[in-house]
Amino acid sequence: MTDTSAAAPARTASKRTVLMCRPDYFTVSYRINPWMHPEDPTDTSLAVKQWDVLHQIYLDLDFDVHLIEPIVGLPDMVYAANGGFVIDNIAYGASFTYPERQPEGPAYMDWFEANGFDVRVPEEVNEGEGDFLLVAGKILAGTGFRTATNSHGEVAAIYGREVVSLNLVNPSFYHLDTAVAVLDDNNIAYLPSAFDESSLEKLRTLFPDAVIVTEQDAAVLGLNSFSDGYNVVIASRAKDFERQLRERGYNPIGVDLSELLLGGGGVKCCTLELRR
Ligand code: ARG
Repeated sequence: MTDTSAAAPARTASKRTVLMCRPDYFTVSYRINPWMHPEDPTDTSLAVKQWDVLHQIYLDLDFDVHLIEPIVGLPDMVYAANGGFVIDNIAYGASFTYPERQPEGPAYMDWFEANGFDVRVPEEVNEGEGDFLLVAGKILAGTGFRTATNSHGEVAAIYGREVVSLNLVNPSFYHLDTAVAVLDDNNIAYLPSAFDESSLEKLRTLFPDAVIVTEQDAAVLGLNSFSDGYNVVIASRAKDFERQLRERGYNPIGVDLSELLLGGGGVKCCTLELRR
């Protein structure tokens, strides 16, 4: 008899430093992605309550959590991942696609400046860690809906790292962090149907053992998760993703951000990693 129960590899957590923004002024008053329906009501106090749970999970995981002050009239500021991209203490600022979010770019750059980061003002349109993910020493860079391909070159020049451009094709998965989850230094999970064929080819070659998530899990923004290498904070409704993570030796932690999903964002969107 062959033993098919191969032991899952040991995973190691490493302490993370993140930036978050309380959704004090969260609402859906405009529509810049298919998830947003300004005609439907939103509950700001529920958004804050759900966000508080995520914040507390990070504190319990011993993360170093920084907070940026929310600004009246910028309801999407809660999605801190879009505020920039930070590696080696260098903060590449965001330049948003839609006018509704453009004031967030300078607001986040001011915060980086005040907190000792080397700020690089972007020349090209980009939405920060929503479309730039660091894994395997490379930068995966999304484009198609928000971040311009020209910014991929800007990022390569700033960080001196290889940048892998990926084309997003499904408007529901308009940022790379809605279609790819970074699980640790070398592993990712992704939704194949969110990419065109040439991008898929790149992903298959770079990550042959990637976790492939179901359409159902992606549709609750299950991939929009944040991992410290062992603990993976995910949407609690992404049940199959949760099972796959467990099988591979990770520790999934479910959280319900249903209210923030009305703006088209989940766990990762609310989280910007700060790498000193
Ligand atoms: N309403 C926001 C937008 O459409 C949601 C941003 C989600 N953020 C993310 N990192 N995927 O811009």
